[in-house]
Amino acid sequence: MRPIDFRSDTLTTPCKAMRTHMAAAEVGDDYYREDPSIRALEDYTAELLGKEAALFVLSGTMGNLLSVRAQVPPGSAALVSSSSHLHLNETGHLASICGITSYPMATPDGRYPLSELEKTWPISSPGQRPSVLNPRLKLIAIENTHNGEGGRCLDLAYLQDLRCFANARSLTFHMDGARFFNAVVSLGVKPSELAAPLQSISFCLSKGLGAPGGAMIAGDRDFIEEARHWRQMVGGGMRQAGVLAAAGLFALQQNVNRLADDHANAMRLAQGLCSLGLVVDLPAIETNIVMAYLPDHLPKPDKFHEILTREAVLVLPPKGNRLRFATHKDLSTDDIDLALSRIGEIVNRDRRFQ
Ligand SMILES: Cc1ncc(COP(=O)(O)O)c(C=O)c1O
Repeated sequence: MRPIDFRSDTLTTPCKAMRTHMAAAEVGDDYYREDPSIRALEDYTAELLGKEAALFVLSGTMGNLLSVRAQVPPGSAALVSSSSHLHLNETGHLASICGITSYPMATPDGRYPLSELEKTWPISSPGQRPSVLNPRLKLIAIENTHNGEGGRCLDLAYLQDLRCFANARSLTFHMDGARFFNAVVSLGVKPSELAAPLQSISFCLSKGLGAPGGAMIAGDRDFIEEARHWRQMVGGGMRQAGVLAAAGLFALQQNVNRLADDHANAMRLAQGLCSLGLVVDLPAIETNIVMAYLPDHLPKPDKFHEILTREAVLVLPPKGNRLRFATHKDLSTDDIDLALSRIGEIVNRDRRFQ
């Protein structure tokens, strides 16, 4: 049985046209800044995001690490979303490499509640002298779209409010935009508009955009130069990596608008799951991630996951009674329907056993 793989949008593979583009890429030694394909990708990204400069890095994790390390001194504190990738899934580099204390805050729908932020220790009011006891808060980080909260988008008005909040307290404002272009497409805004309130952004070229690897960071020139230094320090300096950069440029030029198909497929899947009795908050489906909750009458989550896997519908192991489905360019609308019919059989079979 052909597997239908919803585990992640990181599973996307480079298409034939992308591979052709990669094979034809002009390359040079990026250590000397002489790889034309890398330079083209960096210039294109800076222009697209309306920033002074951009840097090609190996991964989204490296992009976040460099963004923080290049801008925030060790011994500082950072406000992070408690369900963010940066906080949970990046091997603790904020603490171990950046020397930063994290203040994790809950972000329902991917957002820090602004009114609560104002009241939360250790955030001081503008002008108020912070206690000598606390590490100095220097960074506020967000994730857009917010993967752990179901691919929710943070819109421009909210980002502008956060930027005001950050400015009033001299905080650096960083966005983990691993799926930034999903937000851009869903909100129908220009990348440069959505990036404007941020000092630094990282985004992934793999995931929904379909390149085999790589990520970008963007911001002002001094920050990018500092990040280049730290990229070298952590072993991320590259040579003739223009072959990979060419895939990234192809992804940015060809694969952004089609993310709308993944979003439509996510909604189709969500509606289908609801009609099969799973619980999905439909208005919360804004991009390519579907969080589905198993009602009590279905088998226990681990068991249900085991049956799904046996029926070749692949998702990550459940968190509590929640399953995450990610749609992506290697899953067609027919695949969604086939997955729903397989899940339908499981659910109906289970009903017969009750
Ligand atoms: C929100 C978010 N940020 C960062 C990353 C890290 O990207 P990478 O796997 O390229 O290190 C991921 C990966 O899934 C992610 O989902």
